Amino acid sequence: MVPDLQPSAPLTGEQLAAWVHDARQRTMDLVADLDDDQLVGPVLPTVNPLIWEIGHLSWFSEKFVLRDALGEPPIIPHADALWDSGAIPHDTRWRLSLPSRKETLAYMAEVRDRTVERLLDRRCTDVVRHFALYAVLHEDTHTEAITYTRQRLCYPAPQLPDLVGTSAADAGAGPLPGDVEVPGGTHLLGALRSDPFAYDNEKWAHPVEIAPFAIARAPVTQSEFAAFVDDGGYTRPELWGAGEQWLRSSGARQPLYWRREGDGWQRRDFDGWVALEPHRPVIHLSFWEAAAHCRWAGRRLPTEAEWEVAASAEPGEGSLRDVRRPHPWGDEPTAPEHANLEWRAMGTVDVAAHPAGDSAFGLRGMIGNAWEWTASTFSPYPNFEQDAYRDNSWPWFAEGRKVLRGGAWATRARYIRTTYRNYFTTERRDVLAGFRTCAR
Ligand SMILES: [Fe+2]
Repeated sequence: MVPDLQPSAPLTGEQLAAWVHDARQRTMDLVADLDDDQLVGPVLPTVNPLIWEIGHLSWFSEKFVLRDALGEPPIIPHADALWDSGAIPHDTRWRLSLPSRKETLAYMAEVRDRTVERLLDRRCTDVVRHFALYAVLHEDTHTEAITYTRQRLCYPAPQLPDLVGTSAADAGAGPLPGDVEVPGGTHLLGALRSDPFAYDNEKWAHPVEIAPFAIARAPVTQSEFAAFVDDGGYTRPELWGAGEQWLRSSGARQPLYWRREGDGWQRRDFDGWVALEPHRPVIHLSFWEAAAHCRWAGRRLPTEAEWEVAASAEPGEGSLRDVRRPHPWGDEPTAPEHANLEWRAMGTVDVAAHPAGDSAFGLRGMIGNAWEWTASTFSPYPNFEQDAYRDNSWPWFAEGRKVLRGGAWATRARYIRTTYRNYFTTERRDVLAGFRTCAR
């Protein structure tokens, strides 16, 4: 039984041990049906070979929990040369002499079982528990990556019978047009020291001044994006600004997984083609595609501070109240009715679904369904404190990445919250990212 799906208080060793099992089981379930060739896959600049990725997330757990926090010797002596993502260039991951599938699975089980044993030992320290949690959350980000890798490589949808079909979304919920007005004021951007867990890039909360703005109640839908494509959006350089270079070099003429069929569009959903679902958010878009749609529509992307205000603040008298919600709906732990997370729908749902997850301003779908590109470049907050895992944020600050907020349908409920910052390079189209817009 998996405990409370939010780290809302320091977790006990028993709860963390359950999370270690649960995270590892999700990983195993996401690759169990793939054959050995599928576990390697083609060399692509974005995805990882899955056989490497599942070894890497176990190595991460072993390195930070068993080796660094507990001082234990490595299980595989040359493991760093196989799975250290900070040291092994991307293309090299396909050329390594990796352990077999059977050996990799045995290593994964060994790391999991040793970690669980240490967590249940009554001498277990806060430091060990911190790194065990860090490793679980790291595995959670990789299970989302494994999911979009399966989409990228045209593999079938993952088999998760215990989850799929447990969505609380109303399948025909439809569109949710219109903007809401958010008053200006001072907002504390980032994580508080009292928060139960925060990554280095969320540290620490600092006041920012926000001018009043109007933001859409829902993300841009597939039909709204199709109108841009059908209006020649991809052939009008004036709409692309700094993204024109990407438009030319990519040769893009429509979203990555779309094709024209008759007089309509279809999108590829894993290994099959389906007609567009008009009221679901459009996803698998680069930052440049989102920005071009904004220009075409006379709109703009929110900054990440505006996004966080819209998701976590509450209206006061003509200004913002001095309140920050960990989730748009408040303090309540994340439940299926709040948001489309955890593979429950095995895809996005209509943007009007999940009214129980609305923010104080009436914005819907800010958590789950689709990550949302923001206009903000990923950079450190003024009082940034680097994590022990130094590659979490620091190497990526200088890359011009853009911040994404809110999580998607394959994000784990236990880690997504209003202060969480994701960050991808502007050309990525394989991730589960869409966008919502603000009035100019
Ligand atoms: Fe990783």
